Amino acid sequence: MKTSLSQMTLDGLLRDAALAAEKSYSPYSGFKVGAALLLSDGQVVTGTNVENVSFGLTICAERSALVRAVSEFGPDLRIAAVAVANLNGAASPPCGACRQMLAEFARPETAIVFPAAAGTTTMRFDEVLPLGFDMKLKQHPDRG
Ligand code: THU
Repeated sequence: MKTSLSQMTLDGLLRDAALAAEKSYSPYSGFKVGAALLLSDGQVVTGTNVENVSFGLTICAERSALVRAVSEFGPDLRIAAVAVANLNGAASPPCGACRQMLAEFARPETAIVFPAAAGTTTMRFDEVLPLGFDMKLKQHPDRG
C-alpha cells in the first residue's frame, strides 16, 4: 500500500509494538501481542494484551493502546498509523472488535501494519474495516 509515512517511520513503530509485546500478560494463551499507535501529532502510544481467567474480559493489545492514548491525550486525537507485533511468529491482523474501536479515531488512509501469513503487511484502515458499524442517520430515499 502507498502511504505518506516513510518506511523508516513504520519500521520504528513496529519495533515499538514488539517492545510492548514483551510486557504482555498472557498466561492463558501464551500469545504475546504489542501495538503501537502513531498519533497525528507525532506521539507514539503503545499497549499490550492483558488476559483474564474469565477469558472474555481479556483486552487486546490494540484496544489497550487505544484506551491508554485517549486517557493520556484526550478525545480529539487522530491515529496516523497502527503497528501490531507478536512474539509468537504468527500472523496477527487486528481482530474485528479492535478494528471497530479504532474506527472512532482512525482516518480512511490510516496505515495498519501487521504480521500476515506472507510477512509484514501494510493496509489502509478503510481496507481492513470497509463496513464498520456507524449510527449516522441517513435520509431514507422514499421519505421526504
Ligand atoms: N489479541 C490481541 O492482542 N489482538 C488481537 O487483535 C487479537 C488477539 C490477543 C488476545 C489474547 O490475549 C491473545 O491475543 C490470544 O487471542
